[in-house]
Amino acid sequence: MPLVTTAGFSPVPFNDEAALADATNEMFLDLAADTEAETLRGRLSDVELIQIQFGSFQDGRGFSLARRLRNIGYQGRLRARGHVISDQFRYALDCGFDDVEISAEQATRQPEADWISDRASGVSYRDRLRGRGLRSEVNDKADTLPVSVAEETGGYVSQPNVFEEQVTDVKHYTDGLFSFRITRPASFRFRSGEFAMIGLPNAEKPVFRPYSMASPSWHDELEFYSIKVPGGPLTEHLQRIVPGDTVLLGKKATGTLVVDALMPAKRLYLFSTGTGIAPFASLIRDPDVYETFEQVILTHSCRQQSELAYGHDIVEQAMADPLIGDLAKRQRVHFATTTREESARNGRITDLIETGDLFRALDLLPLNAVSDRAMICGSLPMVRDTKAKLEAAGLKEGSNNRPGDFVLERAFVD
Ligand code: A2P
Repeated sequence: MPLVTTAGFSPVPFNDEAALADATNEMFLDLAADTEAETLRGRLSDVELIQIQFGSFQDGRGFSLARRLRNIGYQGRLRARGHVISDQFRYALDCGFDDVEISAEQATRQPEADWISDRASGVSYRDRLRGRGLRSEVNDKADTLPVSVAEETGGYVSQPNVFEEQVTDVKHYTDGLFSFRITRPASFRFRSGEFAMIGLPNAEKPVFRPYSMASPSWHDELEFYSIKVPGGPLTEHLQRIVPGDTVLLGKKATGTLVVDALMPAKRLYLFSTGTGIAPFASLIRDPDVYETFEQVILTHSCRQQSELAYGHDIVEQAMADPLIGDLAKRQRVHFATTTREESARNGRITDLIETGDLFRALDLLPLNAVSDRAMICGSLPMVRDTKAKLEAAGLKEGSNNRPGDFVLERAFVD
């Protein structure tokens, strides 16, 4: 039975086999994927190995269980066993697994290279948090881009504070909206909800604009959501990128839309309009958000229904994600409205707060500073008016240095 780690295949160590053979050994636990982690709280300090059984590779419960075990403080070895496929290896590491035990037959079908390819393996969630990133081959090359490439890209010469990353995916939602993904440098760290500077190597001095990372901080790629501004100095060009192109990424991430800037409470409202949903696309895919708040309410308002599509996409993705799917299904509410076209829900979010229609629709009490926290991201007038509603309800603005009841950021425009 091979064991898969980031280093590749190896046999199951003798000690582990002895532990497995002795079912009464207290150092070893064999758990079904539907085990409640909470029942083990405080009882894991002596356990050296926990093995979680995966009945089917479509069943994500084993991943959630692993995460919960890590969250309640389990520090021993964590092994996935059974139906885990190489495409899920990366997730398994992110959830806190150390290794995966596969059958000899699966090892033949999915040889070592399938598991430790750039896509499947890489840096685990915990390693990334500890700052021990591995560099992928692609990014190593990008960091030392030869000058001849600069000649092909409008004279741009590599800068020490800028990563040169490759586009992996582009999706156009409307004539004015698109999302794209780029490779992530292993040394690029951010908290879900933060932004960084984005540019293109199309000129000697490229134009950079702030963009919120729409992907969560644990993900191995970076996603962004953008408007297309006709004639806009960046988006006029950025909207034409295709997979394989180079995008410039400033090395520093920053921002106020982070969980750390809020005091603990029961519920988190994420109020967004237009592309202001981007930082929240990151947060609703981050397990830490669901560990901090019992309920997460994402509101997204746009003029037309077609502009809501990205929000529907990321919410669906969150629910299908083995890492946070269970949490998202149980704890997150999506409340999408249009203001200039009839749809299932209509109206500006500020009006829906004022009339109480938002809270009636969700069967919740009106906003209050005891149970509710909020983040706002949208156009300047939307941010200003929503902030006034929160302050009228007694919520106080916070910041990274002084956590409070709500935080805000203007959605970025070209
Ligand atoms: P409306 O259509 O009534 O202006 P924009 O595309 O202009 O950035 O607007 C995005 C969404 O934000 C629209 O649904 C718009 O509603 C809404 N919006 C604009 N200004 C405000 C505001 N001051 N308060 C709340 N929502 C706003």
